[in-house]
Amino acid sequence: MCGIVGYCGYRPASVVLLEGLKRLEYRGYDSAGICVGTGNKFELLKKRGKIRELNELVGKRTLGDFGIGHTRWATHGEANDRNAHPHTSASGDVVLVHNGIIENYAELKKEFESSGQIFQSETDTEVIAFMIEDAYKGNLENAVREVLPLLKGTYGIAVIHKNEPGKIVGARNGSPLVLGIGEHEMFLASDVTAILAYTKDAVYLNDGELVSITKDGYRTFDINDTIIQKQVEQISWELEQIEKRGFKHFMQKEIHEQVESISRAFQGRLNKESATGHLGGLNMLPNELLGVRRVIIMAAGTSYHAGMIGAYLIEKLARIPASAELSSEIRYKNPVVEHDSLYFVVSQSGETADTLQAMREIQRKGGKVLGLCNVVGSTIARESDGGVYLHSGPEIAVASTKAFTSQLAVLYVLALSLARMRHLSIEDGLKIINALEVLPEKISSILKQTAHIEALAEKYHRYENFLFLGRGMNYPVAMEGALKLKEISYIHAEGYSAAEIKHGPIALINENTPSFFLVPDDLLRDKVITNMKEVKARKGKLIAVAVEGDLEIAGIADDVIYIPHTEEIMYPFLMVLPTQLFAYYCAIKLGRDVDQPRNLAKSVTVE
Ligand code: M6R
Repeated sequence: MCGIVGYCGYRPASVVLLEGLKRLEYRGYDSAGICVGTGNKFELLKKRGKIRELNELVGKRTLGDFGIGHTRWATHGEANDRNAHPHTSASGDVVLVHNGIIENYAELKKEFESSGQIFQSETDTEVIAFMIEDAYKGNLENAVREVLPLLKGTYGIAVIHKNEPGKIVGARNGSPLVLGIGEHEMFLASDVTAILAYTKDAVYLNDGELVSITKDGYRTFDINDTIIQKQVEQISWELEQIEKRGFKHFMQKEIHEQVESISRAFQGRLNKESATGHLGGLNMLPNELLGVRRVIIMAAGTSYHAGMIGAYLIEKLARIPASAELSSEIRYKNPVVEHDSLYFVVSQSGETADTLQAMREIQRKGGKVLGLCNVVGSTIARESDGGVYLHSGPEIAVASTKAFTSQLAVLYVLALSLARMRHLSIEDGLKIINALEVLPEKISSILKQTAHIEALAEKYHRYENFLFLGRGMNYPVAMEGALKLKEISYIHAEGYSAAEIKHGPIALINENTPSFFLVPDDLLRDKVITNMKEVKARKGKLIAVAVEGDLEIAGIADDVIYIPHTEEIMYPFLMVLPTQLFAYYCAIKLGRDVDQPRNLAKSVTVE
């Protein structure tokens, strides 16, 4: 989604802003721009396309000592130079960048248009600059405060005014904004990755809060101009974590990082002596956890797939009815919220609007919602009633990989602790802990097969349709495999329970529609083999992920990727790896922009 950077300080503002925007590229965008000020002389540069095109506009010049920058992911009006941010007021005195959506922009615009004023863009943003100019009586903070209550919708904004050089005013309502504190320099950003190269001291704004920065200080306040004392927090990520470190793409790096990220997700959270898990951040006493009669996990996209697996496991191990719900849907379902139900939201970014709103809806009804997030300080992390961080490190590629396996790891620890409070024996609890602990080496061994999977991608990347099929806990993995393939390679793919194909999807099978089967050595293996034979009988090509030593599969499938044996419930961790690598290499072979696939954004902050 859109990204914001602001800078006041002693460095050339254009350099800081362009570098910050480059770091925000991963969020997804289709145009970018900056406005830099040297005293009261503003220079506005914006362009459709990538940051490198904006860089070309700037050329070798280093401009300004303060300024604001933006990457835009088009919502209102197509992606072109005119609609790119920053936007200016009628006179050009006010310049503004905005993330979010102003729902009443059309009616606000009408008021200006009726007095003959002309807008340059089709955006919902430009009108805010007009309104601030209108309200301006010599103090930018006051003008912004006057305008904000008139806006309906969501925003993170950064505004500058020609009469107040060296100052930026920011405000937040529904779109993240963070202040970075340096020595004689201050930063504003929608995401800490934009400022990590300069500072680790951050102040996260809450909804309804404003900030005003100059190079020597900042002031946080609310709509009534009441000062708000904010805590300065340390950004835990390192700069090297947001760099490619020799890998060609972030996605490739993040797939390979899973060897370590998985262990970080359960480190310090497993107790061998009592054969259980412990998630301190849940803020729940054992007797409260024991009273839970139903678990509902809410999430979107890849996180939803992790949630499906988590729900399956909680029900299986802890014998608590559990289900996963699409956060976009549950919110509008008028869900029944009961006092003994426990709600979880799962979100890598912690900013997904659908998931955030689902959480708020449950909270409004008195439900307790716990969060599983990767991004520290994110909105969901701060607004949930308790929660656990994934510790997978920054995930930069739009396609989620390592966050998925970390989400699983945390959900497994959760299921284990709920189960050990109920019927799961010490022996069975220990088995789970042991199996979790050896996952990193099993993942390593799958990563050693990269060349084989790349060769399969070479063989199959020209097919236009795929089915991904699995059963039980590997059914959501099949859905995840299909999602990964479609989002980065643009090959059409569907994920189904293998049992379901005879109820419809089998009609698609012919020699042009390969099926990617997930075949662990579990209870349902033979049934899945039957499904494979049904596909084969209809001339469908078969790729299978199977367990080392399962030679029967090699006799049926056209191609097999072997993974190590593990406990039955652990297979989702291992099954997903080949699907991630397969999607990655198909996308590479097709020349796709793997880290920033078309139309997608890393954190989807609009509904
Ligand atoms: O940040 P979240 O985990 O809440 O994001 C949810 C989805 O938008 C996300 O998983 C999306 O599906 C990814 N592009 C998948 O790779």
